[in-house]
Amino acid sequence: MALDTTPYKGVRDFYPQDYKLRQYIFDTWRNTVEKFGYEPYDASVIEGIDIYLAKTSEEIVSEQTYSFTDRGGRQVVLRPEMTPTVSRMVAQRRQELAYPLRWYSIPNCWRYERPQKGRLREHWQLNVDVFGIQNVTADIEIITVANEIMKAFKATQDMYTIRVNSRQVVAYILSDYLGLEAAEATTIIRLIDRMNKMEYGEFAGLISAAISPSLREEKATDEKLLTILKARTIKELPQEVQEQPFTKELQDLLESLKSQGIQNAVFDPTLMRGFMYYTDVVFEVFDTSTENNRALFGGGRYDGLVGQFGVEPVPTVGFGMGDVTIKDFLETHKLLPKVAHTVHATMVLVGDMYQKAQPLLAKLRQEGAHISVDSTDRKLDKKLKSVAKSGVRYAIIFGEGESNESNITIKDLSNGKQEQHSFERVVTTIMANSKNNLLD
Ligand code: HAM
Repeated sequence: MALDTTPYKGVRDFYPQDYKLRQYIFDTWRNTVEKFGYEPYDASVIEGIDIYLAKTSEEIVSEQTYSFTDRGGRQVVLRPEMTPTVSRMVAQRRQELAYPLRWYSIPNCWRYERPQKGRLREHWQLNVDVFGIQNVTADIEIITVANEIMKAFKATQDMYTIRVNSRQVVAYILSDYLGLEAAEATTIIRLIDRMNKMEYGEFAGLISAAISPSLREEKATDEKLLTILKARTIKELPQEVQEQPFTKELQDLLESLKSQGIQNAVFDPTLMRGFMYYTDVVFEVFDTSTENNRALFGGGRYDGLVGQFGVEPVPTVGFGMGDVTIKDFLETHKLLPKVAHTVHATMVLVGDMYQKAQPLLAKLRQEGAHISVDSTDRKLDKKLKSVAKSGVRYAIIFGEGESNESNITIKDLSNGKQEQHSFERVVTTIMANSKNNLLD
């Protein structure tokens, strides 16, 4: 029986056209974050399981990791995310590194999920993290970088919103303001994290059930909580909550973003982000299109993770942005560029010209042109058809009477025009569109 050609469930094959689009996404990420001084790093896709046990979301560790026991009996996983790895790397060189540290990476991450729109089993995730700044400027910078990336993809602010919340504000509301026990608060945070996956009535019922009957009956705590969750500005929160320093800091953050022209950042008390390591500000970017109404990417502050490795803690803020969700966003808003072929021209040989063509090929390549050669034994028209089909725009026809270095026959397959040009003119023609490798 013939072998199956489909890839493993939930992963993608990247054919050259797909690869170029992925490259466009990666290049846009890199170019933007490097402008803010972020440096690239990388690590292995394999990690010991321990680094995820303490603080990654329970769902990811217990249900979504690709884990196995290696031949030495160690339990290892294919990384579901980069945050524990980068924290381990910083902890390992805690004393040697110069802070603030700005690092980025584009790892592939593995999660055993049910493949669906926006969620696969393997994705690439831009990670941008700043280590060593305790004050809110780090949070402002990280959200600004996220917004700059959206701008670099040519998105306008009406296409997405940046929802912002604070774990400290949530903790204060649940334990100090509403008086819930720690276990009740944990259950409620998990429920809020999943609230968009159920009907509101069901959610409200589960919230009530999670609160002890005495609080419900004597203080209507469930109703108070449900009202707070409807707040859309910090000013709608109870006065006592508004007066807390972390709430004021959150307000400052939102105001700073506004003053920088980021008008689409909004307070959202229901934004939890599943990970246990977040300690303060969290944010998530959502697509506003009804066709793709979903979270695109997110992050937040996690001041305790580096310290988990037994070193002095390092305050940290960062985010992760996946290639799958951003591609869906670009498709939805018709922002995907047409990517040009990486080959500028294909030389089509007429007759037995392989050796004779080599000096011209070498000279063209020396000028930086990307040139492939069709040295098959097919007829000229077949070869030209193949060049057109491959998407390469120009064919250089090289036969005994056809071309020499000062008079080169070149065919533009976008309009069928065939002309003879000097070497210099050929170089400028075929490379005209190659600057950014984009044709849009
Ligand atoms: P996360 O929200 O789990 O956060 O993932 C970040 C982003 O990665 C998601 O918003 C989405 O764009 C993409 N992503 C995650 N899982 C999948 C999947 N199964 N298929 C496709 N795309 C996916 C984190 O991972 C945090 N470690 C981010 C972070 C970095 N926080 C601070 N620094």
